[in-house]
Amino acid sequence: MSFDLVLFGGTGDLAWRKLMPALFQAFRHGTLPEGGRIIGIARDDLSDAQYRDLIRSRFDGVDLAKRPSPEEFERFAGLLHFLRLDLSRPEDYGRLAQMLRERHADVVVMYLATAPDLFSQVVQQLAAAGLNGANTRLVLEKPLGHDLASNRAINETVRSVLSERQIFRIDHYLGKPAVQNLFAMRFGNALFEPVWRREHISHIQITIAEDLGVEKRGAFYDKTGALRDMVQNHALQLLCALAMEPPINAHADAIRDEKLKVLRSLKPWTAEALDQHVVRGQYAAGNVNGQPVKGYREEPGVDPESRTETFVALRTEIASWRWAGVPFYIRTGKRLGSREAHIVVNFRETPHAIFSAPPGSTNRLIIHLQPRDGLELHLLAQGSQENRRNGQVLAPVHLDLDFDKRFGSERVGAYERLLLDVIAGRLNLFVRSDEQEAAWRWVEPVLERWRGEERGPRPYNAGTMGPSAASAMIARDGFCWSEEC
Ligand code: BG6
Repeated sequence: MSFDLVLFGGTGDLAWRKLMPALFQAFRHGTLPEGGRIIGIARDDLSDAQYRDLIRSRFDGVDLAKRPSPEEFERFAGLLHFLRLDLSRPEDYGRLAQMLRERHADVVVMYLATAPDLFSQVVQQLAAAGLNGANTRLVLEKPLGHDLASNRAINETVRSVLSERQIFRIDHYLGKPAVQNLFAMRFGNALFEPVWRREHISHIQITIAEDLGVEKRGAFYDKTGALRDMVQNHALQLLCALAMEPPINAHADAIRDEKLKVLRSLKPWTAEALDQHVVRGQYAAGNVNGQPVKGYREEPGVDPESRTETFVALRTEIASWRWAGVPFYIRTGKRLGSREAHIVVNFRETPHAIFSAPPGSTNRLIIHLQPRDGLELHLLAQGSQENRRNGQVLAPVHLDLDFDKRFGSERVGAYERLLLDVIAGRLNLFVRSDEQEAAWRWVEPVLERWRGEERGPRPYNAGTMGPSAASAMIARDGFCWSEEC
């Protein structure tokens, strides 16, 4: 099957940090269909050869194991082309149409790795140039819009020229191997599903901690903030994967229908919940991994008086028979102590204790997303003599399953997997418009509350796990974040 992958934003951050490395890995693994072209689009004046050189130089920053040898790059570079295009000039889209017509590939992927405020314009221009035929697939990067209204406007424009099955709204967290394994664990095994409910689970924590700051994206990030950048999409998609009912089959709409139900069942915000159950923070200078780092407001591109949040912690509930009363805590932030994303499913205590055990030691299932990908099941077992001397019969132990060790490090990365899915036309791991709208609808009251609030985000020192108010929030329910207890 031949394909043309047209990459808008072809010289941008995402293209060289994520997309080119992912395409190269697919090429190396032999999974990228043969006979493809990757056409970088940008305003720069570059020849194909210059574009190839630019991409080659950017591979220098990639992990050694994932870096192409000179011969490999030569072969990969054969796929790379460049077209200079000014997004606002209709005649430039005409040139793109001509370039694509010369070849008539079976599949044409339009990947919009540009600022989201350009999406509607680009899509309209593509349609005007006749580039919305049945073989076109459109990939939209997040964030899609900055609130419900702008998200709807983009979706309406896109749907006026393409059908829903041609639209691939990407959330790269859905492509992570750990998320695939979460689906596999829940719906490919009989063991967990019977206990996956309020009768057995006391609360669930989702943590996506990053040690990086805003890097070169200060100007973008300052308009966005952690709620829009991470919670509205990645964290809520994880919550859906955790909380959804078993789908009737593995088809895209069966899965997306169930995720949508979760988003629609999120408890609506009350004034009290907005007060008590949301914490926003912003990093101040500190030390990360032993290195001093500057505060958010000193980052390039960031307003020195910025009120943008770089950290969010919140508590929510899902109003359903399965989950009523079970708190779900979400926490994400930049410049935290470590790069660590995990989900902790905390089970209830035994209904009647016949053994003594260390306080708070209940069963836990930890789903590690990164840096490692694995499962840890925490149990209690007959302890050592020392435990007994301390008067505790049971000691905490855990089973540890490391998927990288088990399946090897050559596993398919998130973008690689998702790009191959787009070319193959598989929509399972992409987000439908109604899911996105439901997620925006749910975060909007929080954004609104912040807009009207005099107090800005709470400062936290870079290298910590966020403002202490996040610990106080969870402590009010009698729980603590996984690293605190
Ligand atoms: C992106 C956000 O969607 O996800 C970034 O825009 C964030 O701000 C990134 O750093 C995190 O992705 P990952 O895969 O590194 O956890």
